[in-house]
Order: sequence, then structure tokens, then C-alpha cells
Amino acid sequence: MATRIEPRDPLTQAQGVEHGYAQTARRWPSQPLVRRPHGAAELSGPRDLAHKLPPIAGKNAGDLAGTGAKRALGQLVRLRIRVLDEDGAPLPGTVVEVWHCNSAGKYIHPNDTHDAPVDPNFYGAARLLTGDTGLIELRTIKPGAYPVPDTGGWWRPPHVHLSVWGRVWLSRLVTQMFFPGDPLNEHDAILNAVRDPEARERCIARLAPTARGPADALVYEYQLVVRGRKTAPRMP
Ligand SMILES: [Fe+2]
Repeated sequence: MATRIEPRDPLTQAQGVEHGYAQTARRWPSQPLVRRPHGAAELSGPRDLAHKLPPIAGKNAGDLAGTGAKRALGQLVRLRIRVLDEDGAPLPGTVVEVWHCNSAGKYIHPNDTHDAPVDPNFYGAARLLTGDTGLIELRTIKPGAYPVPDTGGWWRPPHVHLSVWGRVWLSRLVTQMFFPGDPLNEHDAILNAVRDPEARERCIARLAPTARGPADALVYEYQLVVRGRKTAPRMP
């Protein structure tokens, strides 16, 4: 079925070129856009995405933290992320990719030059499929903050990268989830590239009451809207 690609809202989506975030100048078009009709394949594929991109580290619920001698270092958390449409209806069967750095702020990636240790028990990436209520649940450790090289003191606050696949290739949404109360949130060039404060607030997870949660982990709940006015801001 063909899907309409929504225009970008400049208030609730990130600015194209953001002062203090040099990479945006390379990622944003420097020339006026040229309109090109989308082809049938772009607007109707892929078929059977959940088989092409099968779950990794769990199905609806995943584990990146490990246990015992294989337990990753850091504060144990459970992320409960619900994927919703513009009416708040859950989107079951949605492929969601999740990745974040370890508790020292280090990614296992050749581009990560931060002098922080790799955790041998932490890989940091999962791919899950939302259940009937649109929910994925990930047991992991809280990511650390890390400095962004050559920026004169910009530190990324703890955050979790999320990629949500829609029904067509062009409707993939890549965004980031933040943790409540972190003082680095208000200085983060990526979060603050979204000008609307309510849209920024929607990027921040909610800490569930600890009395209701498991004894060994803090639970963070997050709603990720994929369409409409409350669409999660696109972030790298
Ligand atoms: Fe990151």
C-alpha cells in the first residue's frame, strides 16, 4: 500500500544546520531541493521486513546487560518503549533498532576516539519487534555521557539511539531518547536543535516509580510517536 511521506515541521523537528554542531553543515543540503516523484518500490517496499531484519538480543524483550560474570558494568535499567501512531494507537510488529554507548561513554566503533574503556561484556545494540501493545522492553545498563571531539566542551548527555522501521523504506525514523533530570540535557546541541520545548520534552523518558519496578533496576518508560504532530524529532 502506498504511504504518504509527511513534510518536515521546522519547530518540532531538528534545525537543518545547527550552530555549535559542525556536522550538520555536511549533512544538510547546501542547494535547493529538487522534487522527484517517489517510485512504486520506494512507496510500497519492503515486504516482510521482520524477516529481512530479524530480532537480535531478544524478540519483544531484549537483554544487553547480561548476568553474573558476563554482566556489563553500570547501573541496571529497563527501558520500556512503546511505539504509537498519531492517534496513540500501538503499532505491533514494528522493527525497532536500539544502540547506546557503555557506562563509561564508549561505543565499540572505529570512529569513537574517546579515551574510555570498552566493556568486554557490553556490545550495545539490539533489534526488537514490538509486541501487541506496541511495546519493546530492553534490559541494559544506563549509558554514560561522552565528550564530542573538537567542540570546546560539548558533552553528549546519556542517550539511547533508536531506529524505527515503517512499512516502506522511506518511512524509517531515527531518533534519540534522553534520561530525565540530567543537567547535560539543557546544553546538548542535538536535543536543542529542536526548538519547540514540548517536542524536546517528548524526547525525554519518564522514570517509573521505583516501588513498582524490579528490585535490581530503574525502569524508564518512553513513548515514541512515528507520525503526525507529535512525531519524534529525527536525530542522528
Ligand atoms: Fe550517541
